[in-house]
Amino acid sequence: MKKVLITGGAGFIGSHVVRLFLSNHPDYEIYNLDKLTYAGNLENLKDVEGNPNYKFIKGDITDAAFINTLFDENKFGVVIHLAAESHVDRSISNPLEFVTTNVIGTVNLLNAAKKIWDCNKDKPVRQDRIFYHVSTDEVYGSLGETGFFTEQTSYDPQSPYSASKASSDHFVRAYFNTYNLPVVISNCSNNYGANQFPEKLIPLFIHNIRNNKPLPVYGDGKYTRDWLWVVDHARAIDLIMHKGELGETYNIGGFNEWQNIELIKLMCSIMDKKLARKPGESEKLITYIKDRPGHDRRYAIDAAKLNKNLGWKPSVTFEEGLEKTIDWYLANEEWLKHLTSGEYQKYYEQQYAAR
Ligand SMILES: NC(=O)c1ccc[n+]([C@@H]2O[C@H](COP(=O)([O-])OP(=O)(O)OC[C@H]3O[C@@H](n4cnc5c(N)ncnc54)[C@H](O)[C@@H]3O)[C@@H](O)[C@H]2O)c1
Repeated sequence: MKKVLITGGAGFIGSHVVRLFLSNHPDYEIYNLDKLTYAGNLENLKDVEGNPNYKFIKGDITDAAFINTLFDENKFGVVIHLAAESHVDRSISNPLEFVTTNVIGTVNLLNAAKKIWDCNKDKPVRQDRIFYHVSTDEVYGSLGETGFFTEQTSYDPQSPYSASKASSDHFVRAYFNTYNLPVVISNCSNNYGANQFPEKLIPLFIHNIRNNKPLPVYGDGKYTRDWLWVVDHARAIDLIMHKGELGETYNIGGFNEWQNIELIKLMCSIMDKKLARKPGESEKLITYIKDRPGHDRRYAIDAAKLNKNLGWKPSVTFEEGLEKTIDWYLANEEWLKHLTSGEYQKYYEQQYAAR
């Protein structure tokens, strides 16, 4: 159980999972496998790169031969799979890339784990190995004004991104049913926090408010999302990996729904204070734009199973998490500058390739 492979560890959520596991489990060897696409940023993990229990591997989950060799050589006991193409807007312009990474990449990892763990239907499910698949609430589709997504909600993905994640979830479940591969899946609501690529709403808007740029709001702004602080998502993954039941799905969310427009107004008011602006000044940057296709109206997660069975609950309120996040972006301008200039993509060559 001690060799843990985390895929997509250089991304937003993955970097928090890597850091949390290194800190909570000093007896684990953490392998971070990441292709370093535009979304992968090793500067997210500068603080842990000297940790003797941490190893970074640059590689592509869509390359089956590479994945098989990696698993054969390292005999991982745990796989926590986060690597994915994750941005809905990009999936609308390039769906095939999402199928390749999110579906084929996942199946490559499942095959490699099945092989080294020697799983098949004639043997009981191994209790000493875990393939943990990290997924999204977007697989459930869109809700009306009321109701919540539970683990029993039927899948109804609306965008190419959510369709590719739904497909990968089905494959993970199918490997449990067909080959007795020890799997667990979690479906989480929208994450926010430090290290998120600024194409996503919260970091993008912090950047735009700070620089007096327009705040583009899709449609009427009443799209509703359920927000969770990324560190709480990482805590939930740690808990489910250690205490969750194999073959089960767990929804992760903070019972924290916000209409986009209300969230943006809250951000504007916090930023007005932080930037010593007059109350209401940042709100003037709000600009309504044409809606995008396949835009789900409302997501809301029922995380009662995780709370009841494993005792998990978020560690911060939304206001606290949002303030921590804003403070982080304001204090880490250098991180953002490296992203905008592309400097972050040189970090691997500078720090790792020569080792
Ligand atoms: N961001 C959210 O709000 C959210 C919510 C629920 C679930 N999720 C899921 O969590 C996971 C991580 O999301 P994120 O927001 O951190 O994404 P991200 O885009 O920030 O990170 C994805 C990482 O995967 C890597 N990657 C992409 N293609 C790869 C490949 N072919 N081989 C190896 N590595 C590759 C990228 O380099 C990047 O480091 C995804 O599976 C996503 O579906 C995200």
